[in-house]
Amino acid sequence: MAAKRRCTLRLANTGAHKINNAIGQCLLAKKMGKTRIIAETGAGQHGLATAAACAKLGLECVVYMGEVDVRRQQPNVATMEMYGAKVVPVTSGARTLKDAVNEAMRDWATNFQNTHYVLGSALGPAPFPDIVRTFQSIIGEEVKRQAAERNIDIAAVVACVGGGSNSIGVFTPFIEDKNVRLIGAEAGGIGPNKGENAARMTGNASREGILQGYKSRFLIDEDGQSMPTRSISAGLDYMGIGPQLAALGESGRVEFTAILDKEALEAVKFFARNEGILFALESAHAGAAAMKIAKEFPKDKALVINMSGRGDKDIFITSPVFRPEKWKEFLKAELKRLENNEDIHDAEIMNKK
Ligand SMILES: Cc1ncc(COP(=O)(O)O)c(C=O)c1O
Repeated sequence: MAAKRRCTLRLANTGAHKINNAIGQCLLAKKMGKTRIIAETGAGQHGLATAAACAKLGLECVVYMGEVDVRRQQPNVATMEMYGAKVVPVTSGARTLKDAVNEAMRDWATNFQNTHYVLGSALGPAPFPDIVRTFQSIIGEEVKRQAAERNIDIAAVVACVGGGSNSIGVFTPFIEDKNVRLIGAEAGGIGPNKGENAARMTGNASREGILQGYKSRFLIDEDGQSMPTRSISAGLDYMGIGPQLAALGESGRVEFTAILDKEALEAVKFFARNEGILFALESAHAGAAAMKIAKEFPKDKALVINMSGRGDKDIFITSPVFRPEKWKEFLKAELKRLENNEDIHDAEIMNKK
């Protein structure tokens, strides 16, 4: 999408880029004769994509999700369950994405004979970073093709960076094209201090380490132990970054910037009001980064923002910020309806033998 001038949408079932990788890995798993799929999820989008792929392919699906994320991304939890997946809330550590990855790895270590772990980002032990990058490169390839068809000259591509799957996916086809700036937006959280963000490339607490089966840059302490992270977006709230992106950042090919929670929220509002598009909080980090640099480019050049996902999953976060009183009233009224068993007829119809 070229900011301000043009807006192109390519919709993906389940509402984020995660389906590109989930369907690919589930097909591979089926070919390998696996009957059970496990996945980790932060924002719930990877869990949702995996649950949908499993429903389609007839595979059992278990999704590990930090307890904090289960609460803040409840709409995706409900949808995963609708698709037949079992969502397991993870109560260890900070109860966010890192802890969900740990639990999924523990499960896989015991059940690998019938189980495939569909890792959701371009990280973890080899060959996961390559598998995920390959499936996600479709994003960059489509952008390149659409731009060529419309004679659009791309000056920069901006993507948010959690573990790094949407960013490595959109960047990969442009890496050799040195005229295109590649910009990764990571979670600046509430500030630059330790524990206030998830800034692995721009933060001062970042260092090289080996965790969760891969060597890269992490937010870790002197003893190599992971440090707490913070972000309003569950999908960016993670202490590591995929090794390919870390290398591209260190070589200078990919530039990184940290976006604060409040800047991401402002971007959600901006794109909703001006483009009629509701960005996921993760993707809004890319939107905010693009708004900051847009003036650096001539008007005849395009600035591509990878809108990695939809924002309706964030209603429990955005509504209390943008319409707190109405949201409070709504929740109170819903609770009352539940307590009074006002939905009893719908449940009765469903449960009738
Ligand atoms: C919509 C969306 N965008 C971005 C991300 C971040 O992941 P990645 O860096 O792997 O693209 C997530 C992760 O859950 C997500 O749900």
